[in-house]
Amino acid sequence: MGSYEQTYRRSIDDPEGFWGEAARLIDWTRKPTQVLDISELPFVHWFPDGELNTCYNALDRHVEAGRGETMALIYDSPVTQTIRRYMYVELRDETARLAGALRALGVEKGDTVIIYMPMVPEAAMAMLACARIGAVHSVVFGGFAAPELAARIDDAKPKVVLSASCGIESTRIVAYKPLLDEAIRLAAHKPRHSIILQRPQATAVLHGTDQDWEETVAAASPVDCLPVKATDPLYILYTSGTTAGPKGVVRDNGGHAVALAWSMPNIYDVRAGDVYWAASDVGWVVGHSYIVYAPLLAGVTSVLYEGKPVGTPDPGAFWRVIAEHKVNTLFCAPTALRVIKKEDPKGKYKQGHDTSCLRALFLAGERLDPTTYEWARDVLSVPVIDHWWQTETGWPIAALSLGIEAKAVKPGSPTHPVPGYDVVVVDESSNPVPAGVQGEIVIRQPLPPGALTTLYNADERFRDSYFTCHPGFYRTGDGGYFDEDGYIWVMGRIDDVINVAGHRLSTGAMEEILAQHPAVAECAVIGVVNSVKGQVPMGLVVLKAGVEVDPQQLRSELILGVRKNIGAIASFHDVEVVAKLPKTRSGKILRATMRAIADGREYTVPGTIEDATVLEGITEVIAPKARTS
Ligand code: COA
Ligand code: AMP
Repeated sequence: MGSYEQTYRRSIDDPEGFWGEAARLIDWTRKPTQVLDISELPFVHWFPDGELNTCYNALDRHVEAGRGETMALIYDSPVTQTIRRYMYVELRDETARLAGALRALGVEKGDTVIIYMPMVPEAAMAMLACARIGAVHSVVFGGFAAPELAARIDDAKPKVVLSASCGIESTRIVAYKPLLDEAIRLAAHKPRHSIILQRPQATAVLHGTDQDWEETVAAASPVDCLPVKATDPLYILYTSGTTAGPKGVVRDNGGHAVALAWSMPNIYDVRAGDVYWAASDVGWVVGHSYIVYAPLLAGVTSVLYEGKPVGTPDPGAFWRVIAEHKVNTLFCAPTALRVIKKEDPKGKYKQGHDTSCLRALFLAGERLDPTTYEWARDVLSVPVIDHWWQTETGWPIAALSLGIEAKAVKPGSPTHPVPGYDVVVVDESSNPVPAGVQGEIVIRQPLPPGALTTLYNADERFRDSYFTCHPGFYRTGDGGYFDEDGYIWVMGRIDDVINVAGHRLSTGAMEEILAQHPAVAECAVIGVVNSVKGQVPMGLVVLKAGVEVDPQQLRSELILGVRKNIGAIASFHDVEVVAKLPKTRSGKILRATMRAIADGREYTVPGTIEDATVLEGITEVIAPKARTS
């Protein structure tokens, strides 16, 4: 057996021994005597009697170990032409003061705080400040519109919201404060205070309960780390589900810290002193885990980048950042590479940037298509590693674990399950299928540390969404197969979740918006293949009988409706008015069949179809888009 196989087997056969050892990577205020409690499955309690503070492990302990002057965070923002560097000691001090400000506003252990911010270092400080005082943060991605933010405010019920006056997109300044005000107006729950970071690009008008960030922090006294139970929540991160309303994924403190600290050397082959850049956003799970927590837990320098992959005026922005900050490991979404490849297919903008510091490129967020894989490998001449994970797991489920064994890459496959994840492919009856046979990818219970512990205020939804369909297993929502060599192939979602430019979105949520239009009788939203974004949504609407509308006007209204209610990131630009939607005889819309047509996949039509000609008509509408995009 090679080192990977040995490590993997041990993690599955002896999870307590394996993770008990990994727990030594963390400083505990009370060392756990028990590693794993599975008495309440599917609820798993890792290190149930341990106590720690995540912020202490991410910042203070490095300072106390004499590494305070090591760089913790490099903020690189071509959109504001700023580069700012924070040593561990500086990041600790700023965070401790912000934590003091939160405390002074009445935020206590267990209280929730929403963070709705652009990619600025204060966003990372805000997360760490919450962790410092045992408050539970919930970061909401800045591209979400006010109603989405309102839904999260109502679910999380934050005592305080941390936000900024604006975000900066390539072509425009996005004023955040009006969106926040609108969200608070829409929400039934009213936070006590909002702390607003004023940015010079667009300052915000502050009202009664608003606090100016700088003034509030300047007036605050720094506070120490408060030990919490390993099983206490660290954060809530909302993600799209199939059914109505986002799901609030809850992450604990202890399991999360252990898993992420373990992942840095073992999966990414990155250690203290290295420079790591996850080119994502703190609003997504990748940003939580690999811009903020994992690098800092491991004493690594993390790059926080505010801008697009192809910057203006610098089309070689990615290569410049690698060279300038001596990045050793880059992690981004394939869609970001496709954006660069489209602008610069031959990698000419790389010239003049010495990227020899780079050791590996990790990709996730969507399937890595072999063409993008080959392009990246040829342009960068480093191992290009696809790895598969999701908001719920918080860290990779399958990857080439570079720090354990440099296995051969098979383009299109995220290699093998990561230690801790007992991955199985099952059929509809939950029976494992042989190698080469496609099925649903599930994970045998218990999930490893770091994975979600429940859904916020929704234990039953947690059970129903993930554990009822295949008893004994966690349902990932992805389909795929293992090949004869034990490589896993993740082929895509089997539910109504789509992945647009590495952003996970619910087609059901978009359908809800379309269905509210007075002219729409029924509708469906499906993902259509897109050469840059991977997938983009397409709406199919059926008009109410007798309604006369200008189709162009209707399209504009529906597109604007999705943008205003969900956000620009939905990239919803395509609506077709159709006479009918294909259905089964019992009236169920054939969404899975339409999805397969849009993906250009083979499909079987259910025997009980209502009217085959309707399906033929819809195929004529969808199929050309799948081919031309
Ligand atoms: N705040 C406000 N608006 C935002 C936003 C934010 N934080 N992020 C995106 N938007 C807007 C964009 O400006 C754009 O608006 P437009 O329709 O007016 O042009 C719209 O949302 C769509 O954005 P996006 O799909 O992101 O397209 P893009 O061209 O701006 O950027 C990528 C393309 C590939 C660079 C970007 O999507 C990306 O970096 N994706 C990777 C995501 C990721 O990291 N996923 C995690 C796995 S690693
Ligand atoms: P998110 O929760 O936003 O991280 O999205 C998770 C989903 O993205 C997964 O369920 C997959 O459908 C998809 N995904 C993420 N990484 C990969 C990958 N490497 N290969 C294939 N699909 C991926």
